[in-house]
Parts: sequence; structure tokens; C-alpha cells
Amino acid sequence: MIYLTKRVEFSAGHRLYSERLSAEENERVFGKCARPSGHGHNYALEVTLCGQPDPATGMLINLAEFKALLEQRVISELDHRNLSDPIPMLRGRIPTTENLALSIWETLVDKLPAGRLYEVKVWETQSNWAACRGEG
Ligand code: NI
Repeated sequence: MIYLTKRVEFSAGHRLYSERLSAEENERVFGKCARPSGHGHNYALEVTLCGQPDPATGMLINLAEFKALLEQRVISELDHRNLSDPIPMLRGRIPTTENLALSIWETLVDKLPAGRLYEVKVWETQSNWAACRGEG
């Protein structure tokens, strides 16, 4: 099996706050990330595909087409947005790194050949990332 990863970046803001929790509970769970002003991150998104290279081209996927897919379906939806605003891709989820990874997986999985999407990894900072492999 061959794995191929494309990395793209976007910048966005968010506020971590759950309507299911009281103000005090939000403060306790999310700390300063719950402050009403929100805050921003420079995110990195790494999307890994898997499969066998096409014998005719030696490629798993045309990287230019893959980059265009990520730009059109993900980056254009998330870059320079407030992720706490209603964004169709997020389906009302709290915009944590975990939920971004899940939402981006759901967005891409049916736009790629079946079985090709291996992992969606979202870096919120240089020390935190969450990944979705579509399992479970
Ligand atoms: Ni944050």
C-alpha cells in the first residue's frame, strides 16, 4: 500500500462553548477558549490517501486535482471564517480540532475514489492535532 499526503493551511477563528453547559461549566471545561471574543488559529490540514499507483502514470492521484479539491471543498469553506458561525460542513458541531477532522473527513470521503481516503489530520497548533480515519 502506498500513502500520499497533501498539506494545506488555513486561518480561522472560533470560540469553544457548548450550549449544553452552563456558563460556569463552559469556563471550567474550555477555560479561556470559552471567552466571548473568540480567538484564532493558523491551522494545517494533512489529508492522506492510500492505494496503488496507476501503472500508466506512477501516481496515486493527480496532485493538482487533489489540491483543487481541497481548495474548493474545504479551504474555501473554512479559511478566514469564524468557525463558531453556522458553517454547513460543521453541522452545528463545536469547532474543536476533533470535530474539524471529522467534518472534513465527511466532506471528502465521497468525493474521492472508494477506499482511497486514509486519514484527515488537523493541526490546531504545532503541538495539537486530531485525526479521523473514518473508523468507528
Ligand atoms: Ni482555539
